[in-house]
Amino acid sequence: MNTILKKIDKDNIDYSVMEMAGEILRRGEMVAFPTETVYGLGANALDESASAKIYEAKGRPSDNPLIVHISKEEQLEPLVKEIPEKARLLMEKFWPGPLTLIFKKKDTVPDGTTGGLDTVAIRMPDNAVALAMIDAAKVPIAAPSANTSGRPSPTTANHVMDDMNGRISMILDGGAVGIGIESTIVDVTGEIPMILRPGYINKSMLENVVGEVAIDKAILGPMDENSHPKAPGMKYKHYAPKADFTMYDGDIENVIKAINKRAKDYIDKGYTVGIICSDETRQRYQYGDVESIGTRQNEITISHNLYRILRDFDDKEVDYILGETFNTKELGGAIMNRLLKAAGYQVENV
Ligand code: TXA
Ligand code: MG
Repeated sequence: MNTILKKIDKDNIDYSVMEMAGEILRRGEMVAFPTETVYGLGANALDESASAKIYEAKGRPSDNPLIVHISKEEQLEPLVKEIPEKARLLMEKFWPGPLTLIFKKKDTVPDGTTGGLDTVAIRMPDNAVALAMIDAAKVPIAAPSANTSGRPSPTTANHVMDDMNGRISMILDGGAVGIGIESTIVDVTGEIPMILRPGYINKSMLENVVGEVAIDKAILGPMDENSHPKAPGMKYKHYAPKADFTMYDGDIENVIKAINKRAKDYIDKGYTVGIICSDETRQRYQYGDVESIGTRQNEITISHNLYRILRDFDDKEVDYILGETFNTKELGGAIMNRLLKAAGYQVENV
């Protein structure tokens, strides 16, 4: 299959390209598109054979359900059994935006899209290209992150090209995404909304709108065979770089010392080493390939670069990645959730 790559200026959208994308989607084929979080791999959510193609292109386990993307609120009602009051409040505050809500699904949503669950995940992305594409498709769009299963999520069209070239019909290149990590997922089917995946929209932002919010405890630490996260995708070893990745936690001076020492040890033995640090500590590392992930003063710079850095180290085929940890408040919690998973929860306390 020949994958068409089209650059789209989000401030001056070429609607003839959107029409082309819409037509491809209605035919049951796949189009990758930018969102404010990561690039998505889209197909018609109401066509079971179209969503089956997504699983095949990604190599994704078929029990891992897809998120359905809509561009207008009126698209929600035909997909879900009820819209609880707290869901309405969250939608009003955060849609379009990086918040996915879990509803009880109607039969219009095929089992193939939800991995056989009787619930469906829905979000309205805050990205002009995504919204224009969904409008042009005239159907809701099922879209996971547009990476091969197990690789870091794509934050540029080039990342999507690396993973999906020849496997999908079209990629809409809307430039680098903003946030860089996937949407917050909140289950609104129960009395107390529950966070199933942390993201840019954090617990206190949600609590300001709907009061008490719970956190699925499966997202707080490593998973064993007995844990059953409510978001099936959270059980997989996601975002895994090819290198052996260890994080160093503790007083920052100790962290710097420990990483420098370990990097030197590895390099002396002939291995290659990548270091993930911050703008504040960039100058303190002497060995290896040192990459700042962003500034601790503004965490969105960190989430923005996170997957790109992991992919870069994959491309450079470093043997080891040594990384600093970050605070776990607000966006930091979502950042550490991704980094710890990527590191397979290997943390050295120093
Ligand atoms: O930011 C995002 O959400 C991106 C962009 C493309 O929108 N999409 C994304 O999709 O991250 P994906 O497929 O990589 O992650 C979807 C997550 C998985 O962990 C899946 O298990 C969970 O959502 N999920 C989907 N439907 C669900 C449901 N009905 N109940 C519980 N979890 C669900
Ligand atoms: Mg994903």
